[in-house]
Amino acid sequence: MATRKLAAGNWKMNGLSSALVEIEALETMLGDCDDCEVLICPPATLVSQMAQSTSRIAVGGQDCHPEKAGAHTGDVSADMLSDAGASYVILGHSERRTDHNESDELVREKARAALEAGLKVVICVGETLSEREAANTLDIIGGQMAGSVPDLVTGENLVIAYEPVWAIGTGLTPTLEQIGEVHDFIRSRLVRRFGGGVGISTRILYGGSVKPDNAKEIFGVSNVDGALVGGASLKAADFGPIVSALSLSGG
Ligand code: PGA
Repeated sequence: MATRKLAAGNWKMNGLSSALVEIEALETMLGDCDDCEVLICPPATLVSQMAQSTSRIAVGGQDCHPEKAGAHTGDVSADMLSDAGASYVILGHSERRTDHNESDELVREKARAALEAGLKVVICVGETLSEREAANTLDIIGGQMAGSVPDLVTGENLVIAYEPVWAIGTGLTPTLEQIGEVHDFIRSRLVRRFGGGVGISTRILYGGSVKPDNAKEIFGVSNVDGALVGGASLKAADFGPIVSALSLSGG
């Protein structure tokens, strides 16, 4: 049985301080949905304000530097995120792997730094369309997991997000069978590497074009412990129903 389910929003490079009204609106929609955890990862500029404006919703960063401090213009360290009120950080998102050439090794170093700073990490893995078409999906995911996940994890501080690159922002999603196959595979790799305790309690999120109208069926798939949501997390009117669907999906 995994830890509390997680509905995570990734705002990417979207959101000015005026967008904090969405957090207020989301809080009112959550009501007594306390069987799942809700996380929003806004741009770094909003982490502090958002963390101060909510106690109900966890706040996270979208990236961090592997070092604690130093001469790295434009970067943000895990300690800085934590100091600003973040409790999570997304690492190895495919947009960072592509836009910034991030390797598995770099993602693992960032994750180690984040864990040492007391943050929980959401490590993203996922295949491209050509990798899926070449029937390489599980090999790619297995390689990214082995390379990107550091050793010092517990079931509490590690979350894996399976995000097929071709499903992100496209409106396309894998079939439920395809999602189930990858999530079962990720679970088996976690158990093999970390044993039954950590391996079973680590949450595995699905991400890529999750919307209010497909969330329920995705949350019904085995080993799906929540979602990492991009576009549909920007508005409470879209994200609220996704959180409700997760809450209703039961244990
Ligand atoms: P999407 O993005 O929900 O807009 O497809 C998901 C993600 O990139 O985390």
